[in-house]
Amino acid sequence: MKYQNDLILKAAWGEEVSRVPVWLMRQAGRILPEYREVRNSLSSFKELVETPELAAEVTIQPVDILNVDAAIIFSDILVIPDAMGLPYVMKKGIGPVFPKKIEEPSDIKNLRVANAQEDLHYVLEAIQITKKRLNGRVPIIGFAGAPWTIFSYMLEGSGSKTFSQARKFLYTESKLAHELLEKITESTIEYLKAQIDAGVEIVQVFDSWAGILPPDQYKEFGLKYLDAICNSITQVPITLFAKGAWYAYEELAQLSCNTIGVDWNTKPSLARELVGSGKTLQGNLDPCMLYSTDEDIIAATKNMLTSFGTHKYIANLGHGVYPDTNPEKVKLFIDTIKNYKF
Ligand code: CP3
Repeated sequence: MKYQNDLILKAAWGEEVSRVPVWLMRQAGRILPEYREVRNSLSSFKELVETPELAAEVTIQPVDILNVDAAIIFSDILVIPDAMGLPYVMKKGIGPVFPKKIEEPSDIKNLRVANAQEDLHYVLEAIQITKKRLNGRVPIIGFAGAPWTIFSYMLEGSGSKTFSQARKFLYTESKLAHELLEKITESTIEYLKAQIDAGVEIVQVFDSWAGILPPDQYKEFGLKYLDAICNSITQVPITLFAKGAWYAYEELAQLSCNTIGVDWNTKPSLARELVGSGKTLQGNLDPCMLYSTDEDIIAATKNMLTSFGTHKYIANLGHGVYPDTNPEKVKLFIDTIKNYKF
């Protein structure tokens, strides 16, 4: 497909760009009144995720309203456990909850490898509709959770400050842990490939809980499966966002991914030093910075651009945008990047 704006793809492939591309993690939904209007017309988050017409509509909203350089499909990383036979519910004010979590070996045996075409057809339809409606304006980002992060939610049954249940399992049931991680990985590879077939042009894997493991365990239970995913996705560029895992950047840089997401705890210069010159970096303004004054936002954004440089770089926040962020501040962040001359 011919794009009117393919800056993000060029940057991910390491090609020269005329300006730095920008998008925001969690740009779809959350901050826009236009999103809340659609969301409030339905009874649940899940209903929105599973209604392709509406999921496509809220996917496109930030492209229209914020002028970002890519759309990210409106869904959630937890559709994978759902498709494997462990459904989630999204509880207001709490977040995701699994009425039934993984507790014993038979719970793992009973899970299936997700069949994307059947179990996740609603995401694939949302991609197809989005693709048609965008008509080449910007590329669509597909995504999935990293096996370790998905595993954490499946073991814990909800979000957690420590994920100590999931971490305990790595020590006490390492063989079973690998069995479950294998199943999640297989499901994820199939799912990402199906998203690519449906029309996404770039994919991102979110390892939101990478930062809570010791380096050796991340190697054994995290990186191993990210490696398998990277080796299976060859058609489009792939971004790995391993939040808090600066300690593993050197190993991440050895995987066959194109871009590495950098969180706000990591200095851009350290990220570049550890990753080397071979990959594109993405990030990393502190999402809380967007609560600041216009003047300070402009200065911090320019500082971020100077620190990363303009080559092999995709501008973003260091994690998802917070729900109560003023969209005007987000626009200021985006416009500052777009107007940056180099
Ligand atoms: O990036 C986007 O704009 C696309 C949509 C998207 C959602 N979730 C929609 C969502 C993406 C990429 C995700 C990823 C996701 N989901 C992650 C990885 C990224 C990260 O933040 O680390 C994780 C860990 C989840 C799990 C999840 N989903 C949690 C913990 C929560 C509750 C807290 C929160 O973030 O709001 C969700 C709910 C969720 N996912 C909402 C949205 C828009 C809010 C629910 C609502 O609107 O009712």
